[in-house]
Amino acid sequence: MRNIVIAGNWKMYKTQRESSEFLQGFMPELGQTPEDREVILCTPFTDLGVMSKNLQNSRVQLGAQNIHWEDEGAYTGEISGSMLTEIDVRYVIVGHSERRQYFGETDETVNKRLLAAQRHGLIPILCVGETKEQRDLDQTEAVITKQLTKDLVDVDQQQLVIAYEPIWAIGTGDTCQTDEANQVIGMIRSQLKVADVSIQYGGSVKPNNIDEIMAQPEIDGVLVGGASLEAQSFARIVNYQ
Ligand code: PGA
Repeated sequence: MRNIVIAGNWKMYKTQRESSEFLQGFMPELGQTPEDREVILCTPFTDLGVMSKNLQNSRVQLGAQNIHWEDEGAYTGEISGSMLTEIDVRYVIVGHSERRQYFGETDETVNKRLLAAQRHGLIPILCVGETKEQRDLDQTEAVITKQLTKDLVDVDQQQLVIAYEPIWAIGTGDTCQTDEANQVIGMIRSQLKVADVSIQYGGSVKPNNIDEIMAQPEIDGVLVGGASLEAQSFARIVNYQ
């Protein structure tokens, strides 16, 4: 069965103090959240320790935003799997378009990071998606097929979440039409070996479009940037109708 997976991606926002303030507003709202929804917060590394303590015995799972492929070593600025698992991180975003665009992430390094995450028992959230230009040239399927083919070499699809994030919809307020997102996600599913991989949509998910997004049959959840930073707004998304 495909799980419903709702994840906030805080990117480079929120200090430890701000992360604790967020939880004060957010946690009380989870009382009405159906049990079958997995709720995840992917925070900056510096927030993970305090978040891990604050989220003990709660239903919210913790996620990181990157992982290095080696278990340890001289890799200034990187983070290892055991550093994450020791503080109860369960998920990690891999291959986000901002990492691909600004930090030289390639399909080869994405693949290595996915394998490292799984080796450490973390569930990776693999992000794929096309640029505006690629979409306009009708290359969406070809671009995503190439990403999936390269990124998923030797990856265990039983321990995987995929996020379809059209790059032109990220942080722009320009959400992909829900039926279009549904169709692309169906196409992604048709390329997987495992039928029940949860596939999220990401890109300008907001309280005012979440109900429509989650009504689509292929969409199993959302990866939320901007709207996950404010407690009431992310609560509305988690508690979609
Ligand atoms: P956004 O970001 O919700 O702010 O568009 C989504 C993401 O980058 O994961």
